[in-house]
Amino acid sequence: MNIVIGSDHGGKKLKDSIVEHLKNKSLNVNDIGPYTIDSVDFPSYAVEVGNRVAGNDADLGILCCGTGIGMSIAANKINGIRASVVSDCFSAEATRKHNNSNVLCLGERVVGESLALKIVDTWISTEFEGGRHGRRIEQISKIENDL
Ligand code: RB5
Repeated sequence: MNIVIGSDHGGKKLKDSIVEHLKNKSLNVNDIGPYTIDSVDFPSYAVEVGNRVAGNDADLGILCCGTGIGMSIAANKINGIRASVVSDCFSAEATRKHNNSNVLCLGERVVGESLALKIVDTWISTEFEGGRHGRRIEQISKIENDL
């Protein structure tokens, strides 16, 4: 599995922890930065991660900022991206099973590191259920494509 990950300064510490965690699991992780804690604007990182997932350069994307919210708003502007802000393992599982979410957004100022890593593990190991949920994803795609 190929995972692309990015953050802003507010999520960099959590991003770095997730990168190390995923590498320890022998997953292929592409860290697009930032690589210092200097202040940066999150939308460009959201767009880069989103484009790589939408363009099939990566299977899944992860974005970290202070809350996860700004990243999700920006990433969801990209056609084909279903980005979810998640702060608990139940939602992490549900958003893969039901929403086929392809970008996970986490808030470093919201969730602790241990919980965040459990959320990541739950999210990447859960499969989309399809069926009625697939019909609903198609309806969301239609909204994007009719705009
Ligand atoms: C940066 O201060 C902060 O606004 C950002 O990390 C994020 O939380 C935005 O949604």
